[in-house]
Amino acid sequence: MKIAVYPGSFDPITLGHLNIIKRAAGIFDRVYVCVMVNADKKPMFTRDERVELIRRCVKRFENVEVDTSDGLLVDYAKSRGACAIIKGLRAVSDFDWEFQMALANKKLEPGIETMFMASSEKYTYLSSTVVKELGKYGADLSEFVPVEIMDDIKDKLKSSSV
Ligand code: PNS
Repeated sequence: MKIAVYPGSFDPITLGHLNIIKRAAGIFDRVYVCVMVNADKKPMFTRDERVELIRRCVKRFENVEVDTSDGLLVDYAKSRGACAIIKGLRAVSDFDWEFQMALANKKLEPGIETMFMASSEKYTYLSSTVVKELGKYGADLSEFVPVEIMDDIKDKLKSSSV
């Protein structure tokens, strides 16, 4: 059984993330989408909220599970028996940091490969940050996030000062 972990902050999940999940689910027997802590980011949604939002969006994928961890990515991947960590790459600007993380994770856990998946061209510009910025100004988010979570984003933006 080939198992992969797709980690991220997912604050919130976007259509770009969902596209990577769908493609990974077509390659691996099981994919764990894991909401993790990025020490450089101050998230708008709590980790539990992000897990719940993603669960709503991936219901149709039978081999996808949503989880969370506040530990090291490689420890989580190992605990799930994963052979691969999936990372989406949108542009060259993503590469430097992702490459460093991939090498650090490989050093910690040589048995787990990081696999980079090129973002679909229609989502190369898309990020959770872009979604929050547009949402703040009341833009229509239907091209950017799954319809299942659109109202949650609007409500959260209304109730917070992000
Ligand atoms: O969506 P993001 O914010 O780019 O995801 C980054 C994330 C959460 C995958 C990364 O920060 C991470 O792996 N955090 C878990 C802690 C960890 O293992 N850090 C070591 C990375 S070298």
